[in-house]
Amino acid sequence: MATLKPGSADSPARPRRRPPAAVTIMRRATFAAAHVLRREEWDEARNRAVFGACAGEHGHNYVLEVGVSGVPEPATGMVVNLKDLDRLMRQAVIDDVDHRHLNRDVAWLQGVIPTAENLALAFWHRLEERLPDGALARVRLVESENNSVEITR
Ligand code: NI
Repeated sequence: MATLKPGSADSPARPRRRPPAAVTIMRRATFAAAHVLRREEWDEARNRAVFGACAGEHGHNYVLEVGVSGVPEPATGMVVNLKDLDRLMRQAVIDDVDHRHLNRDVAWLQGVIPTAENLALAFWHRLEERLPDGALARVRLVESENNSVEITR
């Protein structure tokens, strides 16, 4: 392990510090939704074998975390205003999925098996197209205490 020695800032021996790779601000939102995981062309036994209990109708209290990266604006100290990010998350995702059935009620999820993976990818695309190029850094979708999906750039 390296020895930690307090160094003087102008000491020539002091190693150059690298700037942080990224500053990412995160915002969390929750929604409740129903879904069922099954392929219509498969029979019940195969759906049960692949999707387990999720082959039946059920719901989750989801948690969506969105990270936006950038350089804090000098005037505000913010990468993004969290009020704006929260509004964007609601408009792009939450308002369409909260208290809905994900297989039936959401136009932009038609034909998608609403696994946590597929939901997180769909959310990523909807958020990305509403943010400046390269700003979206992370989408995490928590489906249950034990299951979550994370997408990073
Ligand atoms: Ni489920």
